[in-house]
Amino acid sequence: MEVRKNFGSKLGVVLAAAGSAVGLGNVWRFPTEVGNNGGAAFILIYLLCVILIGAPVMLSEFVVGRHTHTNTITAYRRLAPGSWWRFEGVAGVFVAFLILSYYVVISGWTLYYLIESARGSLSTDQDFTADFTSFVSHPWIPIVYAVLFMGMTHLVVARGVQSGIERCSKLMMPLLLLIIVVLVGCSFQMPGAHDGLSFLLKPDFSKVTTRVILSAMGQAFFSLSIAMGCLCTYASYFSSDTRLVRTALNVSIIDTAVAVLSGFIIFPAVFSVAGVEVNAGPGLVFITLPHVFQMAFSSYPLVGYLFSVLFYLLLLLAALTSAISLHESVTAYVLESTGMSRQKATLVVSLSCLVLSVACSLSFGPWSELKVFGMTIFELFDFAASKVIMLLSGIVICLFVGWRLDKKMVEAEVTNGGTVPFRLFRFYLFLIRFVVPIVISAIFVNELLR
Ligand code: PFF
Repeated sequence: MEVRKNFGSKLGVVLAAAGSAVGLGNVWRFPTEVGNNGGAAFILIYLLCVILIGAPVMLSEFVVGRHTHTNTITAYRRLAPGSWWRFEGVAGVFVAFLILSYYVVISGWTLYYLIESARGSLSTDQDFTADFTSFVSHPWIPIVYAVLFMGMTHLVVARGVQSGIERCSKLMMPLLLLIIVVLVGCSFQMPGAHDGLSFLLKPDFSKVTTRVILSAMGQAFFSLSIAMGCLCTYASYFSSDTRLVRTALNVSIIDTAVAVLSGFIIFPAVFSVAGVEVNAGPGLVFITLPHVFQMAFSSYPLVGYLFSVLFYLLLLLAALTSAISLHESVTAYVLESTGMSRQKATLVVSLSCLVLSVACSLSFGPWSELKVFGMTIFELFDFAASKVIMLLSGIVICLFVGWRLDKKMVEAEVTNGGTVPFRLFRFYLFLIRFVVPIVISAIFVNELLR
């Protein structure tokens, strides 16, 4: 069995965890949710969810992971032997597997769009909707791209924590942040920048319902990668001097900044082209944006070309670092529970996950009529993982750390044995003991009773 390694540097810790958090959820899902749920009002609720709910849950996961230095399933088993709490670990790893299966499908689309835009085949006189529909519903082409993307993820995870995950995060995250800055700069020059920004910055509270709050919370969980075993697994590679509170704050700030900046890239562009709908739904980045890029820069085709290549590269990098964390969450368990080599464990996870990915991909084409509870396979996986299990899991994590674990042990973990002061410890305990479980449950019940 391989010797367990920790991340080698503080920067590596933050970039790997931020890499997990920053993903398609920031660049694709967040702007779509903002567009559908009333712009700035949604953003404000989202920020509250990150501060009061997301960051405390993240910190709790860090406590469990770093304290046990093992994969998520074994971590809960060790901390609560023989009790029901141990199923929290199982739920985390199971959801990571489920999310990875459909995440690679969408990431595969991203890879396809990157290649197409680099080849210069996205042109103004094209029917982007028809192209997108015929691509995603094709029986095997999207599967090939999903396999390619899984191959990239596989290669990184197979190389291990330091030479794979950490090294790759240190390379890709700075590049990703640089691309964002360049694209925001470009977007601000566009004619629709003013309208796009006021859509993002002027709140309209008439749109706020419990459904919007539930969406914001689900989005915050998904975007921060919490309640899925990923951050717990990464925290198991933190060393004893990693500052948990600071890391949770840094990751939450980077993740939220990237989400909002993605809005700053997308909305000025969308508002620059007459007749394009803001709430264009999930097709936003694959139908609306390619069209917008070409139209907005029709007099400067080279700028349009570079803009779209950079944009899809950004999406791909973001997707890759997140997929790596999902993969690692499952691989760490397989590796440590079976004693397999890392190479073998990674292969088992990649191949078995691809079976589900094929089903997800087909649900956009030949299997689109196959419905379970009125949802396609893809919709079902996304709904189960990111709307239900994830939020319930969030409640369980908080109750576990807040009530079941010894308070002294939690405090020692959060303060590195008393060496790093954390003045808000009591407030944090109050949040995870009462606020987070009550708020999430209340919103759930409200939705169920509708
Ligand atoms: N946070 C990632 C995103 O925003 O796309 C997705 C994700 C990664 C979700 C890892 C869950 C996870 F455990």
